[in-house]
Amino acid sequence: MKQTIDTIRSRRNITFSQLGALLTTGDKEVVQYLYDTAHAETQRVYGDKIFMRGLIELTNHCKNDCYYCGIRRSRTDVHRYRLTRDEVLECCKTGYDLGFRTYVIQGGEDGWYDDEKLCDIVSAVRKGYPDCAITLSMGERSRESYQRLYDAGANRYLLRHETADATHYGRLHPADMSFDNRIRCLHDLREIGYQVGCGFMVGSPYQTVETLYKDLQFIRSFQPHMVGIGPFVPAADTPFADRPAGSVETTLRLLSIIRLLHPTVLLPATTALGTLHPRGRELGILAGANVVMPNLSPKDHRKDYSLYDNKLCTGDEAAECRVCLDRRIRTTGSHLVVDRGDYPACEN
Ligand code: 5AD
Ligand code: FES
Repeated sequence: MKQTIDTIRSRRNITFSQLGALLTTGDKEVVQYLYDTAHAETQRVYGDKIFMRGLIELTNHCKNDCYYCGIRRSRTDVHRYRLTRDEVLECCKTGYDLGFRTYVIQGGEDGWYDDEKLCDIVSAVRKGYPDCAITLSMGERSRESYQRLYDAGANRYLLRHETADATHYGRLHPADMSFDNRIRCLHDLREIGYQVGCGFMVGSPYQTVETLYKDLQFIRSFQPHMVGIGPFVPAADTPFADRPAGSVETTLRLLSIIRLLHPTVLLPATTALGTLHPRGRELGILAGANVVMPNLSPKDHRKDYSLYDNKLCTGDEAAECRVCLDRRIRTTGSHLVVDRGDYPACEN
């Protein structure tokens, strides 16, 4: 099967049966070869640099009711909060001093942040931190809204497609959310000029090798600048509260496969991976990831932004622990850098 891995790398493509074989094999040597090959691809493109992004969780109000999500509208026991522009700027200041040159402003789909309010925040960050990249992750909006935010200074946008199978999408979301609109958003974002990230959870309910295969083919055809994947982790008081968590091992194998299919992609070792395994992020890097996204949100709100149970927000997950995080990453042979960490040969 090692030859299969070499073929996937050279063709930058995978067949359905190869995917099934790589996800199910119990041969440790083959799995290690997969990780090593992907890690070597990362190093070929990015050397031993790991990029960091400071995550600012703007709001946990959300109008949506995704079945998996810990801040879904129907959860009444969540303490809801919104950050002001000045609080965001405060986070940026902390982050800048810690060496962050990318801010990811993420939130639920919260109508309170209309274009005017959000553009005001983006312009203020753009003005205060001209050498930093601004990434937004604020869900589905109109094309016009995405354009206004881009014009205000945003450079990148993360919107996980969640699954590339429309039927599967319908089983993870209520009927008022549409797969087609999600894909429309991703195309609009790219046409406007954003560096765009898509992604999905690993081990979400009803996921199969077939749906994963569609995810990989979607990534191959869309060629996003970033791909965020992490294990599904059940959240209390949601329809999927009793479902099993996704597997760390499967997530690592998929990280490697995505790296082989799309060598230049920016690929984070996500918080969910760190939540399920004490060395999750390091293992992610050794399997081909090259980005980490520690938490820069105001400390008193971090526990409220619980997309799933036991979500890490302290210790090395906190931006304040940059030095400890770097020490851990150095065990993999790579290290954190003070850099915007743009997609190669792309300055926008
Ligand atoms: N487990 C893992 N990831 C989750 N997300 C939302 N809920 C969960 C969960 N229970 C992910 C979704 C979303 C991103 C912000 O967080 O993929 O797009
Ligand atoms: Fe908020 Fe899914 S519940 S985006």
